[in-house]
Amino acid sequence: MQRKGIILAGGTGTRLYPSSISVSKQLMPVFDKPMIYYPLSTFMDCNIRDILIITTPHDQPAFQTLLRDGSQWGMNIAYAVQPEPEGIAQALIIAEEFLDGAPSALILGDNLFFGDAVVNAAKKADCMATGATIFAYYVNDPQRYGVVEFDEDGQVISLVEKPENPPSNYAVTGLYFYDGRAPEFAKSLTPSKRGELEITALNQAYLDKNELAVELFHSGTTWLDTGTHRSLFQAAQFVSVLEERQGRRICCPEEIAYRKGWIDRAQLDAEISRLGEGGYAQYLKTLK
Ligand code: G1P
Repeated sequence: MQRKGIILAGGTGTRLYPSSISVSKQLMPVFDKPMIYYPLSTFMDCNIRDILIITTPHDQPAFQTLLRDGSQWGMNIAYAVQPEPEGIAQALIIAEEFLDGAPSALILGDNLFFGDAVVNAAKKADCMATGATIFAYYVNDPQRYGVVEFDEDGQVISLVEKPENPPSNYAVTGLYFYDGRAPEFAKSLTPSKRGELEITALNQAYLDKNELAVELFHSGTTWLDTGTHRSLFQAAQFVSVLEERQGRRICCPEEIAYRKGWIDRAQLDAEISRLGEGGYAQYLKTLK
């Protein structure tokens, strides 16, 4: 069965300001494009074309306006809501009907990945009939994340969510690959002290069954999140520096769809004319 994607664009960190009228941060730009384009592009790079976007009820119409049904990019985009921020693992339960038994990939709407390693890791995960794959990345502030604990032989022995005393510097990134059983496992979890179905608990459930692969991203891969104002600013700087240096933009869904042959030139041109005259549209016009 073809793997389906879930983007969770909700949760506790959805808003940068504590106001119910402010927009979800995943709709705000990271330099030259909305934040959600980055995780969406990661899925497109991995050839995941069937995607469910989970948002707060308040934000859903804005996401639908922005991303439509996905056909403009040769994809299929569906929508669901998470009424309360009750945990990342709840996304698998919300997505159960959409997945219909298929294996899934879950990505957090505020995570930005860049580098070939992600696509290669996705291919590897696709070769596994059962189990889950998660990715760990060396960071200097592991307290902010789920953290991997290794034994002396480098085997993973546990996963800890936001530990005060991190057992390693390896943070678990917000990209997860699961087999078809994930919704069922998620339903058996109990909420944590902060009242959430923790993704770390779901991953630990796979680890307990000896069915969790933990891939370490090497330092040549970029993983950023935008969980703080500073990290949001740094993500925008990263995109700006890279794009200016190369003269090419990254993570443009229109470009990826066109290069993959999911849309033809006429469809690309139709998208460009919708976008008006800004720099983003100008860039798409230059694509050969
Ligand atoms: C969540 C997860 C955490 C993971 C992180 C990645 O944290 O709970 O395990 O390392 O995403 O961005 P949160 O965004 O809820 O702080």
